[in-house]
Amino acid sequence: MSKTQEYINKGEQYLLKTYNRYPVVLDRGEGVYLYDVDGRKYLDFGAGIAVFALGYGNQKYNDALKGQIDKILHTSNLFYNVPAVDAAEKIVKTSGMDKVFFTNSGAEAIEGALKVARKYAYLKDPSKEYEFIAMHHSFHGRSQGALSVTGNTHYQEGFVPEKLRAVFAEFNDLEDVKSKVTDKTCGIICEVVQGEGGVYPADKEFLAGLRALCDEKDILLIFDEVQCGMGRCGSLYAHDLYGVKPDVMTLAKALGCGVPVGAFVTAEKASHALVPGDHGTTYGGNPFATAAVSAVYDIFEEEHITDHVKEVGAYLYEKLEELKAEYSQITDHRGLGLMQGLEFSGPVGDIIVRAMDKGLILMSAGTNVLRFVPPLVITKEHVDEMCGILRSVLTA
Ligand SMILES: Cc1ncc(COP(=O)(O)O)c(C=O)c1O
Repeated sequence: MSKTQEYINKGEQYLLKTYNRYPVVLDRGEGVYLYDVDGRKYLDFGAGIAVFALGYGNQKYNDALKGQIDKILHTSNLFYNVPAVDAAEKIVKTSGMDKVFFTNSGAEAIEGALKVARKYAYLKDPSKEYEFIAMHHSFHGRSQGALSVTGNTHYQEGFVPEKLRAVFAEFNDLEDVKSKVTDKTCGIICEVVQGEGGVYPADKEFLAGLRALCDEKDILLIFDEVQCGMGRCGSLYAHDLYGVKPDVMTLAKALGCGVPVGAFVTAEKASHALVPGDHGTTYGGNPFATAAVSAVYDIFEEEHITDHVKEVGAYLYEKLEELKAEYSQITDHRGLGLMQGLEFSGPVGDIIVRAMDKGLILMSAGTNVLRFVPPLVITKEHVDEMCGILRSVLTA
C-alpha cells in the first residue's frame, strides 16, 4: 500500500468527516512547491487557502519561530509579552489604526469585531436588541457569530436560527444597504474582496458610501480582511487601495503565514468599547504566534512583498485574460493582485482534480470559480508554469 493510501485510510478512521478531502497527503514544502508523502511535487496556487504568503521554508521566518521556541512559547494574557507588543505596534503603524486584539483564527477575529460594534452601540443605548447588516455571498467563518453574518444559507442551515442571523444586503449595492439600516443596526460588515463567495472586489463608490453611511448613523464599519488583506491585493491592507478606512478590521490567514493567528484592529473611535473583562482568549496573542506576525511584517517590508504582488498580479491578470479569450467555458475573470478568479460555465471540481494529477494545486470559490491565491512570492515563471498545466487540462 502506498504511504498516501495508508494515511488516507487512517484519516478516514480518525478525523471527523467535515471535509471532502482530495486524495493527497502533503508532507513538506519548498518555496512555492509542495511534496506529498510519496514524493510527488505540486506547484502551489492555493497557499493553504491564502495563508502561506512567504512560501515554504523562508529562512528568516523559520529562524524567528525557532528562536521563539527556545525562549518561551506561551504566557498568559495577564502579562505583557515582547512579541505581542512588537507585532501590535507594527499593525498599528502600518494601518493607521489604534489598537489590536490577537485571536487564534479568522472566525475569532470576526467574533471580536462583532462584539466591539455591539458594545459601541450598547454604550450609547442599552435598551435595543442590536443587529448587523452583512452581505449576500459573504464568508466570515464557521463559529456561530461569524456564521450569523455569513451570507450563504448553506453554511447557516441547522446552526444559526433565522432570528439570530444578520440582515443581508447585496454586495456593491449601496441603496440596498441603506434601505436596510434601522435604529437597531449596530454595524455593517463586508469583505473588501469577497473570497469564498467567488472573488468579487468591492466597488470604490460602494465602500466610500458605506463609510459615509456609518459616519452619518454613528454605526461601526467592519472590513473583513482575513483573506484579502496582508498584501494579497497589492497593498498591505486591501482597503488601502480604496482610500476608505474601517472602524474595525479583521486579519488572519497570512498574518501568521502558517502559524494560527488572527487579529481585530480598532480605529480610535472604537477602541474604548471593550474594557477589561469584556473579551479574552487563552492562546490569542501568545509569544509564539505573535513572533510569527512580527517576522511576517519585517519580511514583507524587507522583501517589498506588496510591490512584488503588484507586478506579478498584473502578469497573472494578463495571462488569465488570455485563457479567458481562448476557452469559451470561461465566462468571467475578476480580482486584484494575487487574489483572482476565473468563472466557468459549470462546476470546476473536475478541473481541480485533473490539475492536481498534473502537479498543480488550485482552489475553488463556490462551485464555478477557480480561485488563484498563490504564495505572494510566486514569480512570472511560476505563473507561466501554472497556465501551461491549466491549458493542458482545459484542452483535454
Ligand atoms: C473573509 C474570511 N473571513 C473569515 C474567515 C474565517 O477564518 P478562519 O478559517 O481562520 O476561521 C475566512 C476563511 O476562509 C475568510 O475567507
